[in-house]
Amino acid sequence: MKNTVVTFREAKKKGEKLTMLTAYDYSTAKLIDESGVNSILVGDSLGNVVLGYEDTISVTMEDMIHHGAAVARGVKNALLIIDMPFMSYQTSVYDAVVNAGRLMKEGRADAVKLEGGAEVCPQIKAITAAGIPVMAHLGLTPQSINAFGGFKVQGKNEAAARKLLEDAKAIEEAGAFGVVLECVPAKLAELISKELEIPTIGIGAGNVCDGQVLVYQDMLGMFSDFTPKFVKRFANVGEVMKEAFQAYCKEVQEGTFPAKEHEYTIADDVLEKLY
Ligand code: KIV
Repeated sequence: MKNTVVTFREAKKKGEKLTMLTAYDYSTAKLIDESGVNSILVGDSLGNVVLGYEDTISVTMEDMIHHGAAVARGVKNALLIIDMPFMSYQTSVYDAVVNAGRLMKEGRADAVKLEGGAEVCPQIKAITAAGIPVMAHLGLTPQSINAFGGFKVQGKNEAAARKLLEDAKAIEEAGAFGVVLECVPAKLAELISKELEIPTIGIGAGNVCDGQVLVYQDMLGMFSDFTPKFVKRFANVGEVMKEAFQAYCKEVQEGTFPAKEHEYTIADDVLEKLY
């Protein structure tokens, strides 16, 4: 059954946990979709885990559309959310609506996600008014990494915690259907989750959020440049891949791959005519 924003609303009402994973290409999206996840996020973490940047600042609309459309071709049931990249919505409400529209039309998203609180509420209102569901993102918002001065837990002191709670209420009021809480103390995430009617999706925000999201390369052990405390490795796919790549190299070098069963044949009489 196709997951929609209604699935998100109903899950919160029923107290059912929501699942979300990132994907950036067709074949991985298909595997994740078939695993029964509620939502797939084409995150701008694409910049880190696929494109090899140090942060998400350089990710473009073209990158998001290219990868979003590939993921969309592999997704049947999950709600497909595509991230709005840095400077695709901060510049103006007009830019935000135009770019959200492109992610829907060209990327085939079901919804978009953007980072920020009260300051992006005009954008959230305008995008939702255009019929595009918006997920918000609060706490450690990686597009503001230069303003934060590094990857740090957010909302630790009273003023910062109060601001996070107020921002969460503001984005709900503006029409967001859900909110990602990244790197937020678990007890603060619990309070925000209780205060909101829309679901909270945590990443480094404890297990009382209404759902969870992880970057798939992190949870599969495929990305080792930087591993935050909140990541759990559910499998060591990176090691399995390396072993397979090494085995391939060895067999090619030894001449044992390709074997007879991997060859195509030609009739002897056809071949003889060539001599
Ligand atoms: O870009 C991303 O992958 C994200 C998740 C970490 C929530 O925003």
